[in-house]
Amino acid sequence: MTNEQAMARALELAAQSAGYVSPNPLVGCVILRNGRVVGEGRHHLYGGDHAEVDAVRNAGGNAEGATVVVNLEPCSHHGKTPPCADMLIERKVGRVVVGMMDPNPEVAGQGIERLRNAGIDVVTGVLEQESRWLNRYFSKYIVEKTPYVVLKAAQSLDGCIATASGQSFWITGEESRMLVHRMRSEIDAVVVGANTVRKDDPELTVRMVEGRHPKRVVLAPQLRLPADRKMFSTPLRAETIVVCTADVAASGTARELEDRGVVVLAIESDGTGILEPHAVLRVLGERGIASVLVEGGAVVHSAFMRAGAVDELRLFYAPIVIGNGLQTFGRLSTSTLEQAERFRLVDVARVGDDVLLTAVRPPSAG
Ligand SMILES: NC(=O)c1ccc[n+]([C@@H]2O[C@H](COP(=O)([O-])OP(=O)(O)OC[C@H]3O[C@@H](n4cnc5c(N)ncnc54)[C@H](OP(=O)(O)O)[C@@H]3O)[C@@H](O)[C@H]2O)c1
Repeated sequence: MTNEQAMARALELAAQSAGYVSPNPLVGCVILRNGRVVGEGRHHLYGGDHAEVDAVRNAGGNAEGATVVVNLEPCSHHGKTPPCADMLIERKVGRVVVGMMDPNPEVAGQGIERLRNAGIDVVTGVLEQESRWLNRYFSKYIVEKTPYVVLKAAQSLDGCIATASGQSFWITGEESRMLVHRMRSEIDAVVVGANTVRKDDPELTVRMVEGRHPKRVVLAPQLRLPADRKMFSTPLRAETIVVCTADVAASGTARELEDRGVVVLAIESDGTGILEPHAVLRVLGERGIASVLVEGGAVVHSAFMRAGAVDELRLFYAPIVIGNGLQTFGRLSTSTLEQAERFRLVDVARVGDDVLLTAVRPPSAG
């Protein structure tokens, strides 16, 4: 097995932990001796062993002199576990192959330097692009302390998420809906607007696939939310957070929600009644939420797009035309093309009878 092949395997292992390690990174590790795999590991669970520790343990006595292939630079600091770089030095490994440096500028390179200072050969940048893509949520959160924002919409070919009368069940097919459940299982929190909760009464849990539930966040500036909605019914199936303006955070409605186990977070109002998306992201980041899936509706989608707060778009297109319906970004108005948000296309995939388009904000525009 080549270093590239081993790195591809490390990335595959790392991805298996999606949804279970946040806000830690997804890390996989493969140990090679003479091109043969003698150990594999990954960071399974937040707070648990790092991938290198798992792989070295699985390699038994074979780590000495071996090549350790890992998608993220081994850590050099004492966190919940001792530094992996020191452990690799102690185990006298021969070479370390790294996918990407630690994205935190304050620690980047220190793990690699420690290994090199101990006389260990370090190769960097193997499948670097793939490594960066896998840990894009972590890379943003560790630097900016706010979650990576994925905006998802299930829309018609002409860009509507509902008919004019508000009907949206179901625009897309079963395969797409299953994929959304998979996405939820791999993200820290799902975000929706108060209208979606009032009209659709969604559960926003993971049901169609195996996986853990995300936290559920409702943006409701004035807390106009019927108490009988599924998201507030006790016992809560997953943590529910309601974000409102500070003036209603101490109201009777807020207390009722809290009595049901709902977390109420307040944001200072700027007088417009709008919950500024970056302010929302800051309070969610303070609660350790490193990634969010913004699931609509149009008011929320438009607000996040207007604020330049969308890192990634996942737009499902179903082969249906609605015409004069509720447009995904209908509350956004852009007068010149120069002002329009531009994204870089990453992927177009067929999902059952639908198409899923994935695009990201180009780094220069961030
Ligand atoms: N196909 C899909 O993917 C999809 C997904 C979700 C929803 N939908 C459909 O979309 C419709 C609902 O969309 P919608 O556009 O009417 O409403 P929405 O975006 O779900 O909710 C809008 C409401 O949320 C609150 N809100 C959210 N963000 C805010 C912000 N930044 N600032 C201030 N207030 C904010 C306000 O609540 P207050 O009114 O309480 O002030 C606002 O009126 C439903 O018909 C639903 O079926 C479709």
